[in-house]
Amino acid sequence: MTHNQMNRREFMRTSAGAAALGSASQATLLSPGLLAATPRAVPPSDRVRFASIGTGVEGCTILRAALACPGTEIVAACDLYDGRLTAAKEYAKKEIVTTKDYRAILDRQDVDAVLVATPDHWHAKITQDACDAGKDVYCEKPMSHTVEQGFAMVDAMQKHNRIVQVGSQCRSSIVYAKAKEIFESGALGQVTAIEACIDRNDASGAWVYPIPPDASETTIDWERFLGDTPKRPFDPIRFFRWRCFRDYGEGLPGDLYVHMLTGIHYVTGTNAPPLRAASVGGLFRWTENRDVPDMIWTLFEYPSFRLSLRCNLNNESPGMACWYGTKGTLEIKNDVLTFAPQNTEPQPEGYSILGWPEKLRKEYLEQWRKEHPVPLPGKSPLTQSAETFQAAPSYDYQVDHMNNFMESVRSRRPAVEDAVYGNNTSIACHMANASYFKKTMAVWDGAARNIRT
Ligand SMILES: NC(=O)c1ccc[n+]([C@@H]2O[C@H](COP(=O)([O-])OP(=O)(O)OC[C@H]3O[C@@H](n4cnc5c(N)ncnc54)[C@H](O)[C@@H]3O)[C@@H](O)[C@H]2O)c1
Repeated sequence: MTHNQMNRREFMRTSAGAAALGSASQATLLSPGLLAATPRAVPPSDRVRFASIGTGVEGCTILRAALACPGTEIVAACDLYDGRLTAAKEYAKKEIVTTKDYRAILDRQDVDAVLVATPDHWHAKITQDACDAGKDVYCEKPMSHTVEQGFAMVDAMQKHNRIVQVGSQCRSSIVYAKAKEIFESGALGQVTAIEACIDRNDASGAWVYPIPPDASETTIDWERFLGDTPKRPFDPIRFFRWRCFRDYGEGLPGDLYVHMLTGIHYVTGTNAPPLRAASVGGLFRWTENRDVPDMIWTLFEYPSFRLSLRCNLNNESPGMACWYGTKGTLEIKNDVLTFAPQNTEPQPEGYSILGWPEKLRKEYLEQWRKEHPVPLPGKSPLTQSAETFQAAPSYDYQVDHMNNFMESVRSRRPAVEDAVYGNNTSIACHMANASYFKKTMAVWDGAARNIRT
């Protein structure tokens, strides 16, 4: 049984399901009732004809997610490396049109929507061209490579009235939807501090990917890969490990902060860049073939809370996000959500009266108890224990994010993570990098639409 076939009551407390969750044995299973849209039967007239532009690791993952969405047809794929065009056909599970020139995809009348899953330096140009060609766009995160590009992408979405959805899938996650519900219920009280991290400790996590043995200028369109970045001789390391280079990516903020920022913006109802950001970090271990840090830590200032984000490629630890409120703590760790109420029961002062004379101390305590009768059994906040929630083991939030996109394409309702939303999280990533590389505080100037350092 998939999560989509489960009972649509908001929660399902199933002992069998909970037992399957192992360590989170008391977890409440989350059901799809919290989702913005769930997969449904789609008439043939409503099918969306979809093509990928950039069909590497994420492109193939998204093609698989798209195939799991009813009413979606994969019709074409574009990539610059022959091997990935072959992989695209394998993932599409049929013969599809393939090309190395994305404009050939945009010219096709049988394509309604495109995926942009290229390295980040190509996101803006392809998204703008796709909007101009009348296509809807699912653009991978981080939406932009520069602040200026982000606003141009927002303008393209609005000018051409297109659906543009950015690909940070936790925006459609049932776990984050539950976190948002708890946050909005007020159960956390006033949240002033949030922290999150994603840490890794292996070569793959540090983007040191193997180079396919057939990589050459014959199998790869290197000139097109470079686009408007500085001209360089063919370099398969740059092509396959592009995240390590600022010309093509935004390092750890663009790769990983953006996921945490998307989830935190969603839960807290934030749709604006942070006010200020201050980063420290360094390149400590993965020093070869890289011009971005392998550890970065940033403190962001938002109007009503402060946020600490960290990515460290030198130690493995569970990815987590934690909201600290006056009434409770909310934590998402490895996709398990825990809400732990704080003990807010009034307490008599116990510390500073240690320096009072015994008589005054006694009187104070007696008076305090008169004014604060012992709560009735079951009414004390102390009796509330932590609650844990988890999606079913088969849950795939990438499919939900893709389904949300497909539903927006059909209904013309704005995407859950549209270009405005994606621009704001991208700006936060650019601020983290600006602060790190310039060794100073990065301040967002909304009126001027730029980062002051
Ligand atoms: N949402 C997620 O969880 C997630 C996960 C991984 C990657 N991503 C994002 O997806 C994007 C791609 O990452 P990846 O890991 O798949 O990288 P990748 O290197 O595996 O694939 C990128 C592909 O883009 C192709 N490409 C480059 N320029 C192109 C162009 N002008 N036209 C057509 N194709 C072009 C390359 O040939 C390459 O095959 C990035 O923006 C990344 O941040 C998102």
